[in-house]
Amino acid sequence: MAAAQPRAGLLICYMAKKITVLGATGNIGTALVHHLLGQGHQVTAVARPSARLDALAQAGATPKAGDAHDASFLTEALRGADAAFLMIPPNVTAPDVLAHMQQVGEATAQAVRASGLKQAVHLSSIGADLPAGTGPVLGVHYQEARLNAIEGLTVAHLRPAYFMENLLANVGMVQHMGLIGSAMRPDLQFPMVATKDIAAKAAELLGGPALAARSVQYLLGPRNYSLQDATTAIGQAIGRPELPYVPFGYDDAKKGMVGAGLSENMASLYDEMTRNMNDEKVMVSAPRDAASTTPTTLEEFVETVFAPAFRAATAGA
Ligand SMILES: NC(=O)c1ccc[n+]([C@@H]2O[C@H](COP(=O)([O-])OP(=O)(O)OC[C@H]3O[C@@H](n4cnc5c(N)ncnc54)[C@H](OP(=O)(O)O)[C@@H]3O)[C@@H](O)[C@H]2O)c1
Repeated sequence: MAAAQPRAGLLICYMAKKITVLGATGNIGTALVHHLLGQGHQVTAVARPSARLDALAQAGATPKAGDAHDASFLTEALRGADAAFLMIPPNVTAPDVLAHMQQVGEATAQAVRASGLKQAVHLSSIGADLPAGTGPVLGVHYQEARLNAIEGLTVAHLRPAYFMENLLANVGMVQHMGLIGSAMRPDLQFPMVATKDIAAKAAELLGGPALAARSVQYLLGPRNYSLQDATTAIGQAIGRPELPYVPFGYDDAKKGMVGAGLSENMASLYDEMTRNMNDEKVMVSAPRDAASTTPTTLEEFVETVFAPAFRAATAGA
């Protein structure tokens, strides 16, 4: 038995489990591995070889290096696990992003079947309920269905909103152009969530009692925000209160994404998603309740993550 930190005067006890985390060196995976190790679980951390994977091994996880397209590798990584965190790693340079997601998604499903995995938390997305119009999110719409079809697997699908960490892609734009801009409407309010809150929910589900039934859990941040709100918060945190948010035309935004290294196909998928969000057809609303409302505010994210990253980039420039 392992014991968690006493909360509200209670000592919460649970069995230590064997838990495999895919995407272990990513935003969510890294925080999740640390949560689970802290709860006393045996964690297998899966990603390609890197110093970040070595650091997780140093922290006490068992590293398992390999490629998520390889079903035999994934089967080995999942075999013997009591539960697993499943995700399709993003590949923004893929010539066909949905084909990439299909290949990794099918390899993962095959590995779940072959390993006999019984319990999983799957990183899906807001918009995964929709069969079209969501750009890259369509890939996890299909992955939810693939996992739901596996007999003997109980899966909780996490459907987080837009990651606050996406804002970090603007560090260079603020530095070099003195603005934040995209094709998103400045006034469009939509949910934004910090990845540390997604990791905390995944740890709670994976480390707690066995999942009793298939479920879907939206994770939406504390409230909805616009990119104008984000720009104002960033401007204040980095000492540039005049920082403007500039709405770009769709074609300019696409050219910018391709110029930044995204494939044409990824830029087109983001373009589709952005147009439909601007028209409030997809991903700007989802059921908000106590369970889907997560604690980290945009202001806290900007203060603790964006501003330090901006200062480090500026110091290194
Ligand atoms: N961004 C959003 O607003 C948003 C919103 C909702 C849902 N999502 C979902 O969240 C996912 C991103 O989560 P995240 O930010 O935690 O990801 P991330 O930080 O990009 O991490 C990806 C992880 O996958 C590993 N990886 C990448 N390619 C791999 C490969 N071929 N084989 C094995 N491992 C590989 C990476 O490590 P190595 O590269 O070192 O292998 C890393 O550990 C997206 O895929 C999307 O489905 C995103």
